Amino acid sequence: MHASDNTGSGGSGRRDAPASAGYDVLVVGGGIIGLVTAWRAAQRGLRTAVADPSPGGGAAQVAAGMLAAVTELHYGEETLLGLNLASAERYPDFAAELREASGLDIGYRACGTLAIALDADDRVHMRELHALQLRYGLDSQWLTGRECRRLEPMLAPGVRGGLRVDGDHQADPRRLAAALVRACERAGVELHRRCARRLTVLGDRAAGAVLDDGSELAAEQTVLAAGSRSGRLDGVPEHVVPPVRPVKGQVLRLRVPDTYAPFLSRTVRAVVRGGQVYLVPRESGELVVGATSEELGWDTTVTAGGVYELLRDAHELVPGLTELPLVETRAGLRPGSPDNAPLLGPTELPGLHLATGHYRNGVLLTPVTGDAMAEVLATGELPEEARPFTPRRFASASRRLQELTV
Ligand code: GLY
Repeated sequence: MHASDNTGSGGSGRRDAPASAGYDVLVVGGGIIGLVTAWRAAQRGLRTAVADPSPGGGAAQVAAGMLAAVTELHYGEETLLGLNLASAERYPDFAAELREASGLDIGYRACGTLAIALDADDRVHMRELHALQLRYGLDSQWLTGRECRRLEPMLAPGVRGGLRVDGDHQADPRRLAAALVRACERAGVELHRRCARRLTVLGDRAAGAVLDDGSELAAEQTVLAAGSRSGRLDGVPEHVVPPVRPVKGQVLRLRVPDTYAPFLSRTVRAVVRGGQVYLVPRESGELVVGATSEELGWDTTVTAGGVYELLRDAHELVPGLTELPLVETRAGLRPGSPDNAPLLGPTELPGLHLATGHYRNGVLLTPVTGDAMAEVLATGELPEEARPFTPRRFASASRRLQELTV
């Protein structure tokens, strides 16, 4: 069990940690959420290990890295908005601390976002989003099409207007993953580059995990942080299996040649025919175009249709984009949860915690997840801001279902 799909590794190539008994914390899954949990736990003096065949891999190798608390606001997600905003606020300090700890920069860029309406229907949709944002006191400004083009001259001439959100920034998830691997190593986290196969349960407690080479890692507390695969670890009692599912996202990477720069100066996004398209320009010249959203189980195939739709929609938004070299196509799996919010903290099985279900917001929620998980692992108490995200919010429904079906 690991956070990675088949999308590569941000690992540093170090040798496996020796299997050793008696960790305070074992984190199953070494994606960005598992790694930040391990790093923060180690900083609190907890003896911590991570089990993952390629730490730093997983969905972060595909994600664009938008920190989009305001532009990805949805009806009914007010509680999640609070957590998203708390994490966004921590990003500058988090990026600086992680650079200090790892010696690596994570590409945090305070560039803001422009959410564009391409036609009259989009404008209605965007006006509704704007009203919702204003209702929550969020900083978002309505611009005419001409004002949008003044900010981003590569936009299509016919754009109808948009929202300028100066607080939605970006980070580079691949660099974030690499920095977290390094920070974990430097903080003394033991990285076991193997799959966890089975949760160990002794009496009524989780007590670590068995890896795919048969070695056993004992731990006082085990954190299941394996992204969309968090529900697939053998040995987890049915009533605490996390209700996460994979939601496929196909993402393209283009390159803006130096001669074109600046192509876009901030993240630009739109809803085109009901689908999201976003363009995330990095200082390195990389331009990330995402993303499809497909409920297709464990499939991570990049399809002609997916690439076509992304390029078609991105072209409507920024026509000049078709001139750019297409350098990478990839698909990853978001860990979706029933209410689109993460599951953080203790389960009903003593000794077993979850840090999963971050769905569209894994990169954004990395700082606040690390803080919340370290707090609960060190003190037994989730901080106030994380309490609504307890996995126990689903446990009673799952128990009721079991009672009804026996
Ligand atoms: N937050 C962007 C995505 O999930 O595609």
